[in-house]
Amino acid sequence: MTVSYNQNGVLTLGNTNLKTLAQSFGTPTIVYDEMYIRQQMRRYHQAFQKMDVNFVLSYASKAFTCIQMVKLADEENFDLDVVSIGELYTAIEAGFDPKRIHFHGNNKTKDEIQYALKCGIGYFVVDALDEIALIDQYATESIDVLIRVNPGVEAHTHEFIQTGQEKSKFGLSIKHGLAQKGVEMVRNSEHLHLKGIHFHIGSQIEETTGMKETAKIVLKWLKTSNINIEMLNIGGGFAVKYVDGDSSFNIEEGIPEIVENIKFTCHDLDYPLPTLSIEPGRSIVAEAGVTLYEVGSIKEIPNVNKYVSVDGGMSDHIRTALYDAKYDVKLVNRNEPGEDTVTIAGKLCESGDILIHEAKLPSSVQRGDYLAVLSTGAYHYSMASNYNQIQKPAVFFVSDGKAREVIKRQSLRQLIINDVK
Ligand code: LLP
Repeated sequence: MTVSYNQNGVLTLGNTNLKTLAQSFGTPTIVYDEMYIRQQMRRYHQAFQKMDVNFVLSYASKAFTCIQMVKLADEENFDLDVVSIGELYTAIEAGFDPKRIHFHGNNKTKDEIQYALKCGIGYFVVDALDEIALIDQYATESIDVLIRVNPGVEAHTHEFIQTGQEKSKFGLSIKHGLAQKGVEMVRNSEHLHLKGIHFHIGSQIEETTGMKETAKIVLKWLKTSNINIEMLNIGGGFAVKYVDGDSSFNIEEGIPEIVENIKFTCHDLDYPLPTLSIEPGRSIVAEAGVTLYEVGSIKEIPNVNKYVSVDGGMSDHIRTALYDAKYDVKLVNRNEPGEDTVTIAGKLCESGDILIHEAKLPSSVQRGDYLAVLSTGAYHYSMASNYNQIQKPAVFFVSDGKAREVIKRQSLRQLIINDVK
């Protein structure tokens, strides 16, 4: 996270004055430190380069996507994961090479499969047995696939963002024979070519144990079942720091540890080391972003609580309500110590519309002040809604003190554009 106060006591991000930005372009606005995003991508590259393995890095666009974000991923030599026709369309419109796009999802629709095939994507990550027949039916030439397996491993993370446990809706269970069946079906298909195996055990994972254990389970199964692959994709899910006390995944230590472990397991099993792939989303963009709000009503219930309400809410910040996620906040236009404990509330008609339950802010906070909620770069814009007909925020990339708009604020007109009059 790269926010700091300048000598005039104004909060900056990537050397850009956030007060001026809020005044010029309005709020709520999500602002990204572009250099931070690039640095994260470079850190992953460097960590893998040191390991003397074949690797492919991919950005999980569900964390945050738009045309400029896709272009940035391209410039930083990342492939792209998409999970819907909309994410794929965004990537194609950004001019991204379709061969470097991978299509995920537990229920790809016929339209999505047909569109992805027409675009000429690199590979599908197959997530269900009946999907194999569907892809085969629509394909007219050979198409690479990875099979997403369910290893039956629990990542230590919030229940809603765990995906590797046995009863998860994702992947084909190794233990229950579905993964094996998937491999056979792909082998017997006319057009599908088994390029590799994929797993993703969950999100916000701080440690390497889960991934190492899972890789071991998967590789053992591959060896004993006599399945050869070119690529092993170990998913994303690397943790970020939301608040003090959180630890973000240590890329420089963690990646070598995982890779070394996989190399060792392959050696031990006498199994050829496949190309390794990861697909981080959150750890690329979360800490790069902040959301700027303007303070409106302040309501103090004596001896009970002080509510500081802002001009956005769960429409652009759903993670607190959904996962009880924690965030830090900073006053943008003055550098004063935060001695008051307040609740930062949104403006939507819902009691659960809270951004931060116990935020520290200076007692001087008043209507018209600007706040920056930190680490909002992942799963904020991408999970935004129009509940209460609230417009989606604008998004900016800042770099070297300059701001460029990457997504315009949604207009009122856009809110009714599909309504039939
Ligand atoms: N690969 C697969 C197959 C995934 O399902 C995901 C995330 C990723 C990669 C990227 O994971 P990341 O590196 O971003 O943790 N809305 C939730 C997160 C849902 C994640 C879904 N899958 C949140 O706001 O925490």
